[in-house]
Amino acid sequence: MAYASYKVTVPGSLMLCGEHAVLRQKLAIVVAINHYIKINLTPHTATDRQIKIISKKFGNYSTTIDKYKIAPPYNYVLTAIKQQLTKIPSGFTLNIYADFPADIGFGSSAAVTVATLGALFLWLNRKKTFSYQNKIYLYQQAKRIIRQVQGLGSGADIAASIFGGIIAYKMRPLVIKKINNNSLPLVAIYSGKKIATAQVVAQVTQAQKYAPQIFPILYQGISACTKTAISALKNKQLPLLGRLMNIHHGLQDALGTSDATLSELLYNLRAKNNIYGAKISGAGLGDCVVGLGKIKNNTFPENIAQKKAGVRQIKIAVSKTGLLAI
Ligand code: MEV
Repeated sequence: MAYASYKVTVPGSLMLCGEHAVLRQKLAIVVAINHYIKINLTPHTATDRQIKIISKKFGNYSTTIDKYKIAPPYNYVLTAIKQQLTKIPSGFTLNIYADFPADIGFGSSAAVTVATLGALFLWLNRKKTFSYQNKIYLYQQAKRIIRQVQGLGSGADIAASIFGGIIAYKMRPLVIKKINNNSLPLVAIYSGKKIATAQVVAQVTQAQKYAPQIFPILYQGISACTKTAISALKNKQLPLLGRLMNIHHGLQDALGTSDATLSELLYNLRAKNNIYGAKISGAGLGDCVVGLGKIKNNTFPENIAQKKAGVRQIKIAVSKTGLLAI
């Protein structure tokens, strides 16, 4: 007998403005991008208690409802399942398809958490789509999971993965507001390295101890860039937005989240025709440099050293969709 399966697709995301400051109750701009995680959940027969996870990228994993065990690389997925475990009527198989790697700063932890919760939600609530209220509920669940596994998290990436588009986001009081501009020419250059978000946040907190009077001013500056960027986005003022990204990056550098490799990439990118501005995206000390504007495919890596370091250009566009049942 064939069983129904529950399928969802969820975009990754990148931070356009507000990194680190968002953890201090400032506004951020986060963009859902057209790289996706898809999950297909197939329930097993009523008496089966096995939970299987299948993924070409990350390998297979199996556990049971009764002797449930959380282990890497599936900490986010398994913590999301654990949150629902008492409601789960039988074993199931989760097929995970990701069209982007977990280590480039595209919010894969948030996306896979949302996708797992989304597929479980469809199954356990016999739903075919997600209402706005369902999405808010899933946002809250996902934020709890990310914080449990990672120790911190603003939830900005979760909001983008669930709602799609370009979003103005604030943790408290909660703001998740779609900015009415869904196409933005963006280019991402992966730096070849990734430092865990929690580690970079700890480093910033440490650096703040040496300049406690200065750091709040940096967060204030980032917040001012973000607010002005929101109005630039609304008014389609790309040259202004580019300038704001450059200023924003200067403040991220002052927080200690840039380095020589990222700076070199950034200045090389800014030097191209048709690039309005560029900054690092995400926690920092790795991940991607994001530019506003257009460059030719395969412009990066530009030299052997960059190639060896794993630098690569990634084609991105805004994803208008967020969490979707498919
Ligand atoms: C990471 O992409 C951005 C940070 O602000 C952390 C977060 O928002 O959860 C550093």
